[in-house]
Amino acid sequence: MDLSTEYMGLKLKNPIVPSSSPLSHTLDGIRRLEDAGAGAVVMYSLFEEQITLDSFYIDYYLTHGTESYAESLNYFPDVHSYDVGADEYVNLIRRAKEAVNVPVIGSLNGVSSGGWTDYACLIEEAGADALELNVYYIPTDPDIPSSEVEAMYIDTLRSVARLVSIPIAMKLSPYFSSTACIARRLAQAGASALVLFNRFYQPDLDLEKLEVSPHLVLSDSDELRLPLRWVAILHGRVPVDFAITSGVHTYQDALKALMAGAKVAMMASELLKNGAGRIGDILYEIRHWMDEHEYNSLSQMIGSMSQRHVAEPAAFERANYMKLLASYSSLR
Ligand SMILES: Cc1cc2nc3c(=O)[nH]c(=O)nc-3n(C[C@H](O)[C@H](O)[C@H](O)COP(=O)(O)O)c2cc1C
Repeated sequence: MDLSTEYMGLKLKNPIVPSSSPLSHTLDGIRRLEDAGAGAVVMYSLFEEQITLDSFYIDYYLTHGTESYAESLNYFPDVHSYDVGADEYVNLIRRAKEAVNVPVIGSLNGVSSGGWTDYACLIEEAGADALELNVYYIPTDPDIPSSEVEAMYIDTLRSVARLVSIPIAMKLSPYFSSTACIARRLAQAGASALVLFNRFYQPDLDLEKLEVSPHLVLSDSDELRLPLRWVAILHGRVPVDFAITSGVHTYQDALKALMAGAKVAMMASELLKNGAGRIGDILYEIRHWMDEHEYNSLSQMIGSMSQRHVAEPAAFERANYMKLLASYSSLR
């Protein structure tokens, strides 16, 4: 049974990849992921704010105005105490590359094309096989049009692509007006892969304290539907590899991700909840399923249910919306 897959030109022994999370905070953690069977490991992110604290304060000041400055900064964790510093991060990648055989993908998390992107070079020099760029941006300013937001993504990618020769994946938000268009523009600007989608954590309101409370809720399998749809739509239309992140918890989720067109299925919540050992279970179940359904390799499967290959392509589009709403009354 051939579970190998090629992601951004990297040969992976299987498609289950732990996405960026605290599971890769330590060398032991990274080893555990490899021992559990991971096809590759995405490192937790090095944040722009960790690298350029000063320019972050200046930028924050300019973007948000003086009056909200002090209170707003309270909202950020002390970036010095958040995870480890930039140099330790690069060091951990170097040590991970010596310790494990699976590809190690570095992760940079930021929103500008400033000096922090220089760390891409250090991550490459440390031996990372590829780099994931996570642009976690919330466009709150009504004066900034969507074209400017998109340009920021492209500029950030270009400024990193100029610096490194390892492949770059962009981890994207699901909130673009034209997802297909930005996907293609990023491919043209040098992205080797798109990681769909970044999970945006929504703050909650505490009614007793009258405070906004940051609230991290782990995902469930229902969240797979959004990236599944978009990978299915974009597969074969945009010349990049796709990874699905958000909602991969079971072997069925992973199989769906592959059939939609993803080269890899990334996991975080499930592994945080139930341990790295879940990777081995899922690989076992995938093999079993493939055996029962007479598949010999993943290449027979990847993209087999993308929009271009299903009998009813409209199922991914507006037509499906009407059908779905109409189906409710027939259920009752
Ligand atoms: C505790 C935690 C920490 C995370 N840290 C990062 C990070 O540093 N960088 C990043 O790009 N994504 C980070 N993520 C997002 C995950 O990589 C993943 O994209 C997201 O959780 C959706 O996948 P899931 O449904 O398998 O959890 C984090 C997620 C969790 C739950």
